[in-house]
Amino acid sequence: MPSTVVVGAQWGDEGKGKIVDLLAQQSDLVCRYQGGPNAGHTIVADGETWKLRQMPSGVVSGTPSVIGAGCVVDAQVFLDEIDLLCERGIDPSIVLLSGNAHLIMPWHVTIDQASERRLGSLQIGTTRRGIGPTYADKASRIGIRVQDVLDAKILRQKIEVALAEKNLWLERIYDAEPFDLEEVWAQYASFAERIAPYVGDVSLAVDRALRAGKQVLFEGAQATMLDLDHGSYPFVTSSNPIASGAATGVGIGPTRIDHVLGVSKAYVTRVGEGPFPSEIAGPDEARLRELGGEYGTVTGRERRCGWLDLVALRYAVRVNGLTSLALTKLDVLSAFDELPVCVRYRLRDGSETEDFPAHQSDFHHAQPVWEHLVGWAAPLDAASSREELPVAARSYVDFVASSLGIPIELVGVGAARDRVLA
Ligand code: IMP
Ligand code: MG
Repeated sequence: MPSTVVVGAQWGDEGKGKIVDLLAQQSDLVCRYQGGPNAGHTIVADGETWKLRQMPSGVVSGTPSVIGAGCVVDAQVFLDEIDLLCERGIDPSIVLLSGNAHLIMPWHVTIDQASERRLGSLQIGTTRRGIGPTYADKASRIGIRVQDVLDAKILRQKIEVALAEKNLWLERIYDAEPFDLEEVWAQYASFAERIAPYVGDVSLAVDRALRAGKQVLFEGAQATMLDLDHGSYPFVTSSNPIASGAATGVGIGPTRIDHVLGVSKAYVTRVGEGPFPSEIAGPDEARLRELGGEYGTVTGRERRCGWLDLVALRYAVRVNGLTSLALTKLDVLSAFDELPVCVRYRLRDGSETEDFPAHQSDFHHAQPVWEHLVGWAAPLDAASSREELPVAARSYVDFVASSLGIPIELVGVGAARDRVLA
């Protein structure tokens, strides 16, 4: 603190929601800076389970929260989560939504689904929430922004322009039903009234908070390896989850960020397609999935599971400038006698590297070089501090820290809010 970015150091689902929830309790403002309802944050607070997709996790503790320009917004999901806040007794006026954020329109969802179908075996395995097509239209400058719904005339014009092109694509390329201008316009005009009170200048609000010396937390969605520029392209999301994305996504300068906390599981999971060197081949994968409850929050898909990959984590330290790490779900490893850890990749020419390969073909063919650490084979429930962890569990954590050259600030040992050891 005072300003900290929390970023996924792997392929997502590292338990960021829980870490952000924890840090949000000492923060004055929590900011989402990229992504949309492709994220699924599960937070267990005061015995209640929250599943959030669009809102920053800070809302769970009633902390003022913003959704930055770098985000894409599904208006229906946003409003549903506003309702959820009200139901649970949290004043929704803590939420501020950037007028520059782009709206996920119904055709984006249709195109996401249809294009994945068309790709067949080459599919990316997206969450099918329209994320990629929305960011594509943003870059093509035919997107519809949150502020557009505030003016019915502008809104209609923008939908008309978009549909003139989208309906052609839908009918001719994707063999899908076209959308009706009047229907879409009426639907979004009706959202306008409900969304309007939350729309504001996020960049200004964050700048003011920082100037006032407030504690500001930036919450990344997805993760490093899913970054559009620096992840395992094309098996990535369409935004920049890495820490520097916080500056562009919210509208502040990079000099305003003080700390970058990476969040990593004590092992690795990945949903969707793409290379995954430390993926477990054999029955331990299913065991890890069961023990860790590794099923997608948004899609319910089985997550692919692997042992910890220090090559990919070292890369996350580099591209995010991580200053420390939170290692989550250490308790899930309690069931294993031996814990392989991927310390290097062996490349096709037989050479070994500690550095993440810059070329996709090297990464696709990389073989893990394992170091086998001893397990602790005991539950971690009794530990209320790092010192009380079994020796082997502490060694595991120390091994990761020394391999990465950054401190491990937090260790997650259970699902509940208080099962994080500082
Ligand atoms: P999209 O973000 O829906 O376009 O999906 C692109 C890739 O990112 C796919 O491999 C998804 O499984 C992955 N992805 C997107 N959001 C998340 C997330 O919150 N957790 C884990 N994987 C995600
Ligand atoms: Mg998730």
